[in-house]
Amino acid sequence: MNLKAVIFDLDGVIVFTDKFHYQAWKKMADEMGIYFDEVINNRLRGVSRMDSLEIVLEQYEGEPLSQEKKQQLADRKNETYRELLKTMTPADVSKEVRDTLREIRGRGYKISLGSSSKNAKFILERVNLLSAFDAISDGTNITKSKPEPEVFLKGAEFLGEKPENCLVVEDAEAGIEAGISGGMKTAAMGDAVKCQKADYTLTTFADLLKILI
Ligand code: BG6
Ligand code: MG
Repeated sequence: MNLKAVIFDLDGVIVFTDKFHYQAWKKMADEMGIYFDEVINNRLRGVSRMDSLEIVLEQYEGEPLSQEKKQQLADRKNETYRELLKTMTPADVSKEVRDTLREIRGRGYKISLGSSSKNAKFILERVNLLSAFDAISDGTNITKSKPEPEVFLKGAEFLGEKPENCLVVEDAEAGIEAGISGGMKTAAMGDAVKCQKADYTLTTFADLLKILI
C-alpha cells in the first residue's frame, strides 16, 4: 500500500449538516403533504439533490409532477438549506478535525474534498476550512453522484494522484461503494461503519493518524 492522498467527504465527516438537510427537506415535504422522517433522511447521505428529491417523492401520492415542478421543489429545499447554512461558523468544525487535517498535510499527504454537494465551497468558507484542501471536487464538477466514483476520481485527478494511492473517508455506504469502485482505499466513520465494506473503520476522526503514518 502506498497512500499519498486523502479524499474527504464533507457532510457527516468534516461538518454535520445532516440536521439542516433534514429540516429543509422536512419543510418542503410538509408543504407538499409528503411524509418524511429521519429514516428517509438517512437514505439521502451522499446522494445528489435531484436524486434525493426522487427518494423524498417516493412518499408522494398526488398527481405526477413535471420536471419543472421537481426543479422548483429542489430549489425551494436548497433555499431553506442555504439559510440554515448561514448560521454556521468556524466553531462548527472541531479542533480534532482541524488539527488532524493539518497533521495529515504535515506528514506529506495531499488532501482533496470529494462531496456530492453543490454547496460544498460555501460551507467550507463559512467554517473557514477552504485552505485546508489542496483540491475541491464537489457537486459542481460531476454528472453522476455516489455510488458512482466520479467525484472521487476527479478529486484524485485534481491532485495529480492515482486512485489506488488515495484513501477515501466517508460516512455513507454509497460513498464507500464509490471509493471501492474507483479503486481507492476506504475508511468508514459514523453511519458507514455498519455496512462493513470499508478497508478501515474510524472510531474518531483522529484515528486517521494511525493509518496515515
Ligand atoms: C451530500 C449530502 O453531501 O450532498 C446529501 O450527503 C445531499 O444528503 C448532497 O443531498 C447534495 O447536496 P446539495 O448541497 O448540493 O443540495
Ligand atoms: Mg456524508
